[in-house]
Amino acid sequence: MTATLAATVPSVVPEHERRLPRTESYAALVARLSRQSVTKHFDAYADVDWDAADAGIDHADPRWELPPDRPFGATAWYRALPQPTRAKLGLHLLATQVKIGIEFERVLKQGLLEFASTLPHDAPEFRYAYHEVIEETQHSLMFRELLMRIGLEVPGLGWLDRVGARRVARLGRKFPELFFLFVLGGEEPIDYAQRETLTSGREVHPLFARVMRIHVTEEARHICFAREYLRHRVPLLSSQKRLSLAVQAPFLLNEMARQMMHPSPHVVRTYGIPRAVVAEAFTRNAAQRAFVMASLSKVRELCVELGLVTPWTRPVWGRLGIDAAAT
Ligand SMILES: [Fe+2]
Ligand SMILES: [Fe+2]
Repeated sequence: MTATLAATVPSVVPEHERRLPRTESYAALVARLSRQSVTKHFDAYADVDWDAADAGIDHADPRWELPPDRPFGATAWYRALPQPTRAKLGLHLLATQVKIGIEFERVLKQGLLEFASTLPHDAPEFRYAYHEVIEETQHSLMFRELLMRIGLEVPGLGWLDRVGARRVARLGRKFPELFFLFVLGGEEPIDYAQRETLTSGREVHPLFARVMRIHVTEEARHICFAREYLRHRVPLLSSQKRLSLAVQAPFLLNEMARQMMHPSPHVVRTYGIPRAVVAEAFTRNAAQRAFVMASLSKVRELCVELGLVTPWTRPVWGRLGIDAAAT
């Protein structure tokens, strides 16, 4: 049985993400999230009407155009493009993010299975991890279907990133605390961007809106688990492992945000976007930086709470431009 989905965006802190302080143990919270996976879950095909009358995707649809209040949409270069190209480029950027979503979720599923392989079958996290693997599989099926219907070329990860992805997946077994930080580094910025789109008041294509609403609803559960797992586990780590986590955290989060927020080289090449325009819109743009910072704010605050931002590592956060104190 799948859940019904309200037409509205889930509230900023969904019900199942709220933890009652001091009244709910970590084990009880994990068990509750697992129960939520049974009563509130979605199927990529049963819960999305892919062939609805308004589900068709037209590359020139103005709803794909980037709005003028967003860094890239505001550039004179983009605004001077013919309307069909503006729309197609906006759709191509979306398609790239969808493809990255599939790649990210593959690593996530591999890492979750590695994580579960270290646990006894009666551990509450074992059951939860399997629920999350199932949900991510449904998400990837949705994303794949969306890509098929968009029909634009979107290459996957390059070989270097594929090697890195395999290493990250192994962390699920070898260093799960770092793995779940990676999970948050991917899920929090995507979640932030999707919520922003759904609440922006801009007209969103109904198929895309439906997929985003389903994703945002289930991701709230995944984010909740990763955060509570880290709160539970990090204080138990050896000082050596905590140091390792503290040193790797800013690099990991910076890289994740960069991958998710910047245009792919393929899109840059395909549309001949000048280097100066990429710099103007993405790398040297205060509004874009503020957006990235906001998308990372919750995970950055969690790192502070966990004692992973120390006087020794704070300069690294500042140097990478992801320290709240530096903005
Ligand atoms: Fe997902
Ligand atoms: Fe997720």
